[in-house]
Amino acid sequence: MNNYNIERINLLEEAPTMEPERQLYYVAKCQQHVHALKEQLGRDVSCYVETFGCQMNARDSEKLLGILREIGYKVVDSEDADMVLYNTCTVRENANLRVYGRLGQLHVLKKKNPHMIIGLCGCMMQESEVVEKIKKSYRFVNIIFGTFNIFKIAELLCTYFDTKKQVIDIWNDTKEVVEELPTARKYPFKSGVNIMYGCNNFCSYCIVPYVRGREKSRPPIEIVREIERLVDDGVKEVMLLGQNVNSYGKTFEEPFTFAMLLKEVEKIKGLERIRFMTPHPKDFSDDLLEVMEHSEKICNHIHFPLQSGSSKILKIMNRKYTKEQYLDWVQKIREKLPDVSLTTDIIVGFPGETEDDFKDTLDVIQKAKFDSAYTFIYSKRTGTPAASMEGQVPESIVKDRFNRLLETVGCVSHEVHARYTGQTVKVLVECINSQDSSLVTGRLTNNMLVHFPGDASLIGKIIKVKLTESKGFYYIGCME
Ligand code: 5AD
Ligand code: SF4
Repeated sequence: MNNYNIERINLLEEAPTMEPERQLYYVAKCQQHVHALKEQLGRDVSCYVETFGCQMNARDSEKLLGILREIGYKVVDSEDADMVLYNTCTVRENANLRVYGRLGQLHVLKKKNPHMIIGLCGCMMQESEVVEKIKKSYRFVNIIFGTFNIFKIAELLCTYFDTKKQVIDIWNDTKEVVEELPTARKYPFKSGVNIMYGCNNFCSYCIVPYVRGREKSRPPIEIVREIERLVDDGVKEVMLLGQNVNSYGKTFEEPFTFAMLLKEVEKIKGLERIRFMTPHPKDFSDDLLEVMEHSEKICNHIHFPLQSGSSKILKIMNRKYTKEQYLDWVQKIREKLPDVSLTTDIIVGFPGETEDDFKDTLDVIQKAKFDSAYTFIYSKRTGTPAASMEGQVPESIVKDRFNRLLETVGCVSHEVHARYTGQTVKVLVECINSQDSSLVTGRLTNNMLVHFPGDASLIGKIIKVKLTESKGFYYIGCME
């Protein structure tokens, strides 16, 4: 962290206009504010960041925490803190409602600790109605920013320290991408790496393209350098992150595909595992399968979002593939990568979904034999084309379908999950088991979990484990 040379920054000068120097200047300024607060309170000053939503948000939170830690905050695990930041998600309405509920509870805590600073950022803040509501009904929120300027947290915090007025800074698109700032990884041995931002697909139910903007890929050299630095710092596994990783590089003048990027990442010495999230079935390529087939580092797992098994619904969802095309891909994947674990996302109750459409979804689940599926009830997002479509499905029907969906997914995953029992596999040990401290929890390359006897010295190591028993969603094992 010291290579940022923050202590050499001259705060008597104006803030630099270039990034990341500008943010480092504000980090130094915030350090002074936080130091003064520590003196005044006679104790550490703490911060808590909570992530709602996806892996992208989780990675953004690591960036936010890295900066807050550099500023001098002690990172804690509870909201009883001096700075509380919610990194929000708006992909389904439930996520929004949870944030409002939690804000009410935070207000009570803030009344007890007047020094508490409350910040909101992330996808929900990109919706103007949300910001209006917070301005009107949640005046106690101090800092509000969106998805495009999370790197600015130090500057915004500094403005708040200086003015003590609600600070709001929402951008509409990626004006600049600032990467070279401190980050605080949740796990020392694995890390997400953004390879692209935004989404151009406009699936008709999805709000992501509106809140995360247009697709923008990072140059391969920057990605490779970031991973090299992570590996030097102890990282063994990276997860390459993008809303649609298959369209990586399409906006470059000289096209550079995702498959090509994977080949470059594979060459990085010391890196042991590569994961990626999320490919879109419409852009899945033979090249990618080819690279996966010959790779020693790419993990044996593809998250392959189906959304619906009905070609009619897929068309109105604007997914650009049919049931048959999806199943063809699955077959091709299984031929080339027989051991691969396939997982998926499924939405039920999309407008116009009939019983027959739903049965098509169940049919694909049976045929594709997913290891697991994230299942969602369709949630109407204002501003998306689906929100104003006719044929919204009544709640009782949706609930019934959702239960049947869970049952089918459960049966299929139970059946396929047991297939590795008795095998000895390589496992990256992640943590001490939360229920039983004589066990550790590790992850197979196919993303499944195994619990087995072990201690903290194993964390971050890749070791061989025999899978002795399948418990549906996880294995019990023992070290070889
Ligand atoms: N309603 C329900 N689920 C949604 N998803 C995205 N938008 C919606 C919505 N409006 C799901 C999709 C996507 C996952 C991240 O969230 O399945 O793949
Ligand atoms: Fe949303 Fe579709 Fe983009 Fe995924 S690909 S983020 S579901 S619009």
